[in-house]
Amino acid sequence: MCGIIGIASSKLVAQNIIHSLKKLEYRGYDSAGIATIVDNEIHEKKCAGRVDNLEKLLFKNPSKGSLGIGHVRWATHGIPSQLNAHPHSSDEVSVVHNGIIENSTLLKKNLEEKGYKFKSQTDTEVITFLLTDFLKSYDLVDAINKTLKALNGSFALGILFKKYSNIVVGARRGSPLAVGYGPEENYLGSDSYALKSMTNKITYLDDGDVCILTNNKIEFYNSENKKINKKILTLSEDKQFTDKGDYKDFMSKEINEQNITAKTCVKEYVDQLRKDINLYNFPINPKDIEKIVLIGCGTAYHSCITAKYWFEELTNIPIEIDIASEFRYRKINFNNKNLYVFVSQSGETADTYAALDLCKKNNVKTCSIVNVVESSIARSSDFVLPIHAGPEIGVASTKAFIGQMLVLFILAIKISEIRKEINKTDYENKIDDLQKLPDLIKDTINYCQDNTPIIAKDFIKAKGSMFLGRGLSFPIALEGALKLKELSYLHAEGYPAGEMKHGPLALIEEGLPVVILAPKDRYFEKTISNMQEVIARGGKVILITDEDNKIISENVRFTLKIAKTNEYLSPFLMTIPLQLLAYHVAALKNCDIDKPRNLAKSVTVE
Ligand code: G6P
Repeated sequence: MCGIIGIASSKLVAQNIIHSLKKLEYRGYDSAGIATIVDNEIHEKKCAGRVDNLEKLLFKNPSKGSLGIGHVRWATHGIPSQLNAHPHSSDEVSVVHNGIIENSTLLKKNLEEKGYKFKSQTDTEVITFLLTDFLKSYDLVDAINKTLKALNGSFALGILFKKYSNIVVGARRGSPLAVGYGPEENYLGSDSYALKSMTNKITYLDDGDVCILTNNKIEFYNSENKKINKKILTLSEDKQFTDKGDYKDFMSKEINEQNITAKTCVKEYVDQLRKDINLYNFPINPKDIEKIVLIGCGTAYHSCITAKYWFEELTNIPIEIDIASEFRYRKINFNNKNLYVFVSQSGETADTYAALDLCKKNNVKTCSIVNVVESSIARSSDFVLPIHAGPEIGVASTKAFIGQMLVLFILAIKISEIRKEINKTDYENKIDDLQKLPDLIKDTINYCQDNTPIIAKDFIKAKGSMFLGRGLSFPIALEGALKLKELSYLHAEGYPAGEMKHGPLALIEEGLPVVILAPKDRYFEKTISNMQEVIARGGKVILITDEDNKIISENVRFTLKIAKTNEYLSPFLMTIPLQLLAYHVAALKNCDIDKPRNLAKSVTVE
């Protein structure tokens, strides 16, 4: 969370910093700020709220300077406010920070004893004063080094110095940071996405790295203070994804392009002519796998739960699923015959990265399923399976979820085939199904687009809502409830339908909206019985099914009949009405759909 930008140029930088901060807003958007060096002095401007507010501030009173840093914040220490917004500056330095300094209380106390006066409630301001203090006795590189050594926790930093007024310094430990190479200027950014409009040549910093940028040179140092060379990567062009086009917001664009996500993904992994799935250089022979452990956070975790059903059914391999923030602190019995799979859209989620790091330290095989192939998680795992969804900008994940599920399903089919758990005909039939999926998704989007706005009205007035499903529809119910919570700030619970009678049934009362996911699968009759139990207690049922039978929809307030498919593929189609429902409820409530309150897209703190 939080976004950092830095530019060392020979031209004025404020406008480009604002432009890049707008691209970084998906990482945090409760306050924003900028600092530049003008006539050897640090000039800082910051405000609560969005980058638009900062832009207005700069419009009235433009920032000069050809060297600058900027920041968008997602609050950890201290409320979102102008005082807590970054940069945090002293007379000597100005700092923008992403991450958490865990020993900030102690450091603050020591610095206060030395006479430093803190203005904010943030953990970041200790970095400002530590640097200021070390600069009194040390040269630049040593002062930076001593400061970084004093910090516990995670950080990506952008720093300006009054005394060294031609450089921008970057440093990384635990939180991602990249540099970009431009014509007569160089950049620092939390990710390549923020830098893309300025350059396609970038380098990622590794943990412990420090970089010093001028307008025509970039130097790198490692944690031992040794000068190092780093690889320059060329980024691919993906303009079509970073432009909203005719859509009102990125989320509706991203929901609508899910058929393209599926099509691209299938094309990347499926050899149509040979009717086979391409999976070269897999890090472990699938025949030798004793257990698969699937790990993720948020929506990515829901794709792991869905995959558990597929893998168990198709591969006969024991499957464990785990939330990354739990996995990283549990006592795990690592086994090098197990495969540890990390699912993450951004590839930067701190908890998922830490869980992966733990696996690496225990010398087990790791595979990541990511959208951002240049991400930390992708770069650190033994094997990467990209989802090929293109950049996802809306904070609430939609097309990446479809992509994650799809890659997991494709992996399950392939492992099943290699382990001879399915016969050739079955394998080829599944591949045929994959080819049909993009069109089925498109049909479902079209159908639900028109039908969900009216259903959304019921949710606005209600106290809360429930989402129920069994089998493969259970994780989709969780995802439906999560989408509604994220976007509309209304309480929603996702539950396995069979668990209702063990407690949540007590919540059902007259008029409570209950979404029942009931594809015509092996659980269908059971789910319909659970639905009747809800109706009997006054619940307002929204039934989502692919079954034609009208009888089941008696007493149901709304039925959404989606395209028929087989049991394996139904999660993909069931997801769509739930995304659209959350979208329309949020739209009716005038919520900020692409940037829900309190959230961020890339969660790079614990
Ligand atoms: C944040 C986002 C969610 C996402 C989760 C995991 O909370 O708002 O949409 O599911 O992080 O992110 P990842 O990038 O690891 O998939």
